[in-house]
Amino acid sequence: MAGEEPIVGLLEREAERGELRAALVAAVRGSGAVVLVEGPPGIGKTWLLEDAAVAAARLSVVVSGARAHELEQGVPYGVVRSLLDPAVEGLDAALEGAGAAVARVLGDAAGGPGGAEDTGAVVHGLYALTAALAARAPRALLVDDAHWADAASVRFLLYLSRRVEALSIALIVGVRGGEAPELVARLLDAAPVRRVRPPALSAEAVGVVLRGGLGREVGAALRDACLSATGGTPLLVVELARALAAAPAADDAATALQVGRLAPEAVTRSVTLRLAAVSEAARRLARATAIFGEKARLGDAAALAGLREDDAAAAAGELAAVALLADAVPLAWRHDLLRVAALAGVPAAERTALHLRAARVLDARAADIGLVAAQLLAAEANGDEWTTRVLRRAAADARRRSAPDVAATLLRHALAGRCADAGLRLDLARAEVAAGEPAGAVRMREVLRGEAEPVARARLALELGEALASAQEHREAAAILRDALRGEPGEELALQVLAMLAVCERYAPGPGDSDAQGRLAATVAGLAGATPGERYAMAIDALNRPHATAAELAAAARVVQRAAPDGLLPRAALGGTAVNLINAYELDEAEAWLARIFEELGELGLPVAWTQASNILGMCLRLRGDLQAAERRLREAYAAAVEMQLGFDRIVGAELALVLVEAGRVGEAAVLLATCDPPGPVPERMLDNVRLLARARVAEAEHRDEKAVSGLLELGRRLRGWGLERPVPPWRSRAARLLATRGDGDHARRLAAEELAAARLWGGREVLGIALRGTGLVAEPVDLAALEASVDALDGGLARLEHARSLVELGAARRRGRERSAAREPLERGMELAHRCGAAGLAEHARTELRAAGARPRRLVRTGTDALTPSERRVAELAAEGRTNRQIAAALYVTVATVETHLRHAFQKLGVNARTQLRGALAEKITGAP
Ligand SMILES: Nc1ncnc2c1ncn2[C@@H]1O[C@H](COP(=O)(O)OP(=O)(O)O)[C@@H](O)[C@H]1O
Ligand SMILES: [Mg+2]
Repeated sequence: MAGEEPIVGLLEREAERGELRAALVAAVRGSGAVVLVEGPPGIGKTWLLEDAAVAAARLSVVVSGARAHELEQGVPYGVVRSLLDPAVEGLDAALEGAGAAVARVLGDAAGGPGGAEDTGAVVHGLYALTAALAARAPRALLVDDAHWADAASVRFLLYLSRRVEALSIALIVGVRGGEAPELVARLLDAAPVRRVRPPALSAEAVGVVLRGGLGREVGAALRDACLSATGGTPLLVVELARALAAAPAADDAATALQVGRLAPEAVTRSVTLRLAAVSEAARRLARATAIFGEKARLGDAAALAGLREDDAAAAAGELAAVALLADAVPLAWRHDLLRVAALAGVPAAERTALHLRAARVLDARAADIGLVAAQLLAAEANGDEWTTRVLRRAAADARRRSAPDVAATLLRHALAGRCADAGLRLDLARAEVAAGEPAGAVRMREVLRGEAEPVARARLALELGEALASAQEHREAAAILRDALRGEPGEELALQVLAMLAVCERYAPGPGDSDAQGRLAATVAGLAGATPGERYAMAIDALNRPHATAAELAAAARVVQRAAPDGLLPRAALGGTAVNLINAYELDEAEAWLARIFEELGELGLPVAWTQASNILGMCLRLRGDLQAAERRLREAYAAAVEMQLGFDRIVGAELALVLVEAGRVGEAAVLLATCDPPGPVPERMLDNVRLLARARVAEAEHRDEKAVSGLLELGRRLRGWGLERPVPPWRSRAARLLATRGDGDHARRLAAEELAAARLWGGREVLGIALRGTGLVAEPVDLAALEASVDALDGGLARLEHARSLVELGAARRRGRERSAAREPLERGMELAHRCGAAGLAEHARTELRAAGARPRRLVRTGTDALTPSERRVAELAAEGRTNRQIAAALYVTVATVETHLRHAFQKLGVNARTQLRGALAEKITGAP
């Protein structure tokens, strides 16, 4: 019997093929699409994907395919690796150095701890690589059996699917609808996804299959009997036809009786029949192969089956001849249901034993640790030494590859076999926390409960307290920390616990508070910072104080920076220091500090931390007036936050909305806020201040003044509640302006004066400039001198956008005061500066004012650094650092030709003609208009 030949071709799939073809054509046109081919096993998903591959080739779309396997879920980025590896090889040298993050994922598992990026960066790097591939030629990415894909790969697919519309990519994913794990389910829900659900075969098609299998016409009665026995699932129909052909009966009536016997377990029966017809060696090989999964190496299966390799090869030939295996090298089942059926008779205990032996076979030939671990995952959990060691090793590998969720799965299995292993439980808790899984904190608490020794308890409490605090669960953290302190864990640790406790009590005051803040302040006053514990306590105390001046705040940041190398500080403290530097308007220092955070995030695989740090960087860029860069970074962070589903998307979304408002894109900002932060109370947490601010700014831009004012005043009330009288963010002057236009001049002037006083105390030209503008504008009549002073203060500072705003307000005020010619100069400068910042709304406003002042405003600047597109700027910056075009191409995932084009344009716009002049030309970017 020529079993490997299909009985029939693809039947009744015209509509589905049309959908897939449409996606391919769209990819050719540059507007990518995602199609999910969904359905139960055997419905014909794989066949449709294979058909799509053929169609793609006809359209000159390059095909990259990958298939997930049940027993490879422990290999982080396994699917992505098989999807992109062959493609990467096809790239020229320009792409070879595709960035440390990507190299680490696509590279050798043995590559050791990698470079300086984390999950977010890895996923983004892979995306950039894919985009670069698609830019060369339209590409079809076919991912079959995505329900088995490792979590890290699915994260990438999800990320890609949300951005695919702008790329020449058709992402076609086969998935068993009902079995999809949570991440895949999210892929199913992703917005631009089209779904294809191949239906069961009709009676006619069943007839065609039967005819093909039996080699004769069959009557309607037999056909219908087969249809109802199989439900029209193609695989079942085909297997039934094969089984019927293997035991031929005289006529339709006799055959129909067989149908009754064979169905409903047509597949199992037909596999059993076929296995009965082959040699004992082939049967053993079939079982061994099935243990490895849908595909296996001949050597592995032979070893597990206890066969010599040449005997195994002959056995494989037998299995292919009865159409169980599709390929002999590597051994591959024709369908997973056949594989499952081949194992159906094997008792669970025996199966577990086989999986454990398979793990040893794989380990003996140094297979990817993820594959070894997958065999252990498939076995019943057991606490044996070797198993636990392998699972831990695989988990550590997954953490190195920035896949904490994969690590968590492996450790959970290890723990199921060794419930009493506290070290294991703690590792698992840590992986879960890193993956952003709420179970992590719960588990840490369990570990804590099981620990009686005061020092170990305090260490755990500190770790848990930090995790809870960064999840904004300050109350709970406080209770745990207070408890740990009562255990008297020794001076060093007690200092650290007390410090964390002070933070928690400050942010979530409540009954049971122990004045930790006061105690900490008193203790810290006498410390020199001689030990790591002392430095920790001093840093936390410094961070935690409501500082009255920018200088104090910056000094506090330095205390934190001094403690950071000890490696004890919680991540939130590091991020908090960046925020402090920003509030002190030490923006350069803040950025340098953030760069260090990003670098250090590297090997840890902490998507949450990456998102938080990116959010802070976005704020910094906004205050600097670099709205384009801020938007880019925040969009990435927002996508990551949405994917993590930890509620952090509200925070990042608000930050992004602020940028959009400044950029004059109010409608977009409003839609974004409505999506990520629908109206409702905002909890009183420091982190959520930005939500109040964003809501108020959007309301203001939409002329809902009353709402804007009440939001700003509420923000002010909260800040005061925390002892923060500072002028950042400048909520008072914003509110004052609105109050004044609503006729509440007294209140407006009181607030503006208050902000000015606060700004003088705080120090720094930026806050002073903003506050002066505030007082000038609400004075009656408008105080031109204050506005001029505001412009002077901001000139040469880092807050370019605020500078532009003051220039425009000054010009507008002069214009209203009939000083038309004096109005023009600040308006011109303000317009140009606003334009450079990317603040289209303000620039437009300035233009209107200019016209009213009788000027004929020229077209907005088109030379200088701000005329550069983001890509041109990036290329120019790298060239200025002395990199060659080839190196730049590698760093940015583009071709050398693209780099040359960008650089040529950058030269033109900057008016330079040599690389050596670039640095000077770019350095002017922060200064105002000439
Ligand atoms: N449209 C079809 N017409 C005829 N036979 C089909 C069709 N779709 C699938 N088959 C048969 O069913 C088998 C299983 O299909 P497959 O694509 O592997 O299913 P899935 O991937 O959904 O589990 C195929 O090997 C083929 O024999
Ligand atoms: Mg399939």
